Amino acid sequence: MYSGKIGHLMLGICSRKTTGVCGVAQNLAGRSGLSWTAVCKQRTLWQRKSACPELQQQHVPTYLTSARSASNTTVDPNELKRFQSLANKWWDEQGEFGALHAMNDLRVPFIRDNLLNAHRRSRQVGKPLAGLRILDVGCGGGLLSEPLGRLGADVLGIDPVTDSISTARLHLSHDPDLCERVCYRDCTLEELSEEAEAEQSAGGFDAIVASEVVEHLLNLETFAFSCSQVLKPGGSLFITTINKTNLSYALAIVVAEQLLRIVPTGTHDWEKFVSPVELESLLESYGFSVQSVQGTLYNPLSGSWSWTDSTSITYALHAVKQREEPLLDLGGDSGPQPDHRAHSAATHN
Ligand SMILES: C[S@@+](CC[C@H](N)C(=O)[O-])C[C@H]1O[C@@H](n2cnc3c(N)ncnc32)[C@H](O)[C@@H]1O
Repeated sequence: MYSGKIGHLMLGICSRKTTGVCGVAQNLAGRSGLSWTAVCKQRTLWQRKSACPELQQQHVPTYLTSARSASNTTVDPNELKRFQSLANKWWDEQGEFGALHAMNDLRVPFIRDNLLNAHRRSRQVGKPLAGLRILDVGCGGGLLSEPLGRLGADVLGIDPVTDSISTARLHLSHDPDLCERVCYRDCTLEELSEEAEAEQSAGGFDAIVASEVVEHLLNLETFAFSCSQVLKPGGSLFITTINKTNLSYALAIVVAEQLLRIVPTGTHDWEKFVSPVELESLLESYGFSVQSVQGTLYNPLSGSWSWTDSTSITYALHAVKQREEPLLDLGGDSGPQPDHRAHSAATHN
């Protein structure tokens, strides 16, 4: 899922120097009988359908739903089913999650260096993150939790897929030293947030990591709200995800699902992809200040990730929870409500 087949697709894109990324996507779209314009039109129609009740009754873009509304869960049962079926594959470096293993070379230093910048104090040799509490949301098999624990952080990895948590625990058990600093729970972020609220405890994490997770969530407002609840003021939020562009639509939906059928139809929900602009706007309305957004690129030839100037396919974001209260709409009887007005549908294309 996160390696081979999509990798070959990306290889085609990366290896065509003259046409560039968009050019190759256009070529692929053209070969399918769908022109690039048609691809863009199809995507625009999808966007309009999503926003227009006459075209698609009762559909509200997920990022516009209230964290306090009836659909206040981040959990999409279909996503859980999909990850449930892969729960024993996490530690196969050549398997479905190979690209996530490779991504550690990029994301672990990204998280480490930003945390070291934010927390300037005496460091333990070999354990620079000692004393920091990190929450790894959607940890899967613990691919990212473990290296962060090895850097000295106390890590809690959470995931709603129980079998993935079992896999993470089993793998962790092979490293008794690491067991002292890393632990796992099968739960959601909103459950943790509710616990913190019930205990009237302030958020206790120095950092939250959600790597390749937000594109699988049902409600991003709930995610942002819950992050702000469990994070300490001044704490860091690290997200890596897929942009919502014509290019990502062409690659993930048209080419991978409809044209080449290398991914089962319905694997990617373009609605759930989120652009840096949308994400920044959402996070800022929940009291975060976005520090950096950097483009990332997977090269399947070398099996490695690198930083790139373009955020048009995938990107990494670092935000910090501001110390003052977030901007919230205080109207209504049901307590503080998120302010939805700031969320434009703007995307980076
Ligand atoms: C692509 S995997 C990323 C795993 C891990 N973060 C990594 O990079 O190795 C996405 C993960 O998100 C989890 N997930 C799906 N819905 C979730 C939700 N509502 N809350 C937390 N995690 C969720 C899945 O179970 C899966 O483990």
